[in-house]
Amino acid sequence: TGYITLDTGYKNTGATKSAITFLDGEQGILRYRGYSIEQLAEKSTFMEVAFLLIYGELPTEKQIADFEHEISHHTLVHEDMKKFFDGFPSHSHPMGQLGSLVCSLSAFYPESLKNNQTEEEINLTIIKMLAKMSTIVSWIYKKSFGHPVIYPQNKYDYVSNFLHMTFGQRTEEVAVDPVLVDVMNKLLILHADHEQNCSTSTVRIVGSSDCNLYASISAGISALWGPLHGGANQAVIEMLEQIKNDGGDTQKWIAKAKDKNDSFRLMGFGHRVYKNFDPRAKIIKKACDDVLEKLGVNDPVLAIAKQLEEVALKDEYFVQRKLYPNVDFYSGIIYRALGFPTEMFTVLFALGRLPGWIAQWKEMKVNKEPIGRPRQVYTGSTFREYVEMKGR
Ligand code: CMC
Repeated sequence: TGYITLDTGYKNTGATKSAITFLDGEQGILRYRGYSIEQLAEKSTFMEVAFLLIYGELPTEKQIADFEHEISHHTLVHEDMKKFFDGFPSHSHPMGQLGSLVCSLSAFYPESLKNNQTEEEINLTIIKMLAKMSTIVSWIYKKSFGHPVIYPQNKYDYVSNFLHMTFGQRTEEVAVDPVLVDVMNKLLILHADHEQNCSTSTVRIVGSSDCNLYASISAGISALWGPLHGGANQAVIEMLEQIKNDGGDTQKWIAKAKDKNDSFRLMGFGHRVYKNFDPRAKIIKKACDDVLEKLGVNDPVLAIAKQLEEVALKDEYFVQRKLYPNVDFYSGIIYRALGFPTEMFTVLFALGRLPGWIAQWKEMKVNKEPIGRPRQVYTGSTFREYVEMKGR
């Protein structure tokens, strides 16, 4: 028509039709393929949820066994990738390492670059992406301590294998410790998809140019890194530490968050869509209490977090703007209790979000969506005559 509707930040613009995740922000409802997040977090496993998101149905016993079997047989990452992984400075940010390594998978597994891949070929790339991600994440974790990597073992399922590759040097049982296995599954499930958020939209838009899966996921990882999105889980712990070291005066920090002349925001609070509560935050808050108790961890920032929440939820500023704790508010406290360094938190978010990104990328391809190409409202000069150098 020639008319352009301006909607910065896409607050009211639907970019696609999708049958994957349903989200009602007013009522705090989140469902994957129709199943409630509460039931999935309680009863399911991360791999079952990955299967559900990607293929649309909960797997049968045989389907999940085959899926896990195939994944476990692709968990080794080409040894040559280690060469440039080793080249990263030891304290470079894990998200920078992750994005680069995932994009590099396209160099080591170039069949993913083939045009018009068959369904079977696409599926194999998906399996490899899921498999190699957990290995890469564990490499990055190991590097943060200067430890040697631990190789995957096919006897384990996905989550146990990840625990083995990260904490395996503690004891062999770590991979099958019911407390660790259960909480890792829960956290990964809660992060697995969230309709058209910033990183998912990025994956879809990059993929819409027919770009390969690895590069599309790598773009999503970059989008997730920012503190307004997945990077918030790291920012929350840093904020809680800062408040603790500053004497723990939560009122003072709430006042800072409200001050429009101060750029400080209460990290882990607020959400573009949830305007009542974030159902994931409710589940995580409870899991946080349970896990810390089971592990016998007493983290003083948990008390600060709870106090901040209590003060904010009664404060006119937060009430009026419908700002509630989001998924990132308590997740970092759990990751920390498990032994992950703060800078790894967003990488763990990415590990959880991977099935969602893959499912959305696949849906976009199956639906043959057109290339994503937003328009703009131009606000620059109209026409100007070129000015020679001497006349400027
Ligand atoms: N602390 C203080 N004020 C806030 C906060 C906050 N955390 N969040 C929003 N506001 C205020 C904001 O200043 C604005 O006030 P006013 O109407 O007076 O200008 C109003 O609330 C609406 O905020 P907005 O920035 O227009 O809302 P948005 O939908 O564009 O942003 C958000 C959503 C999540 C980016 C934002 O709430 C935020 O920055 N939160 C902190 C970062 C965070 O926790 N991000 C994780 C999000 S959930 C997981 C994920 O996506 O990865």
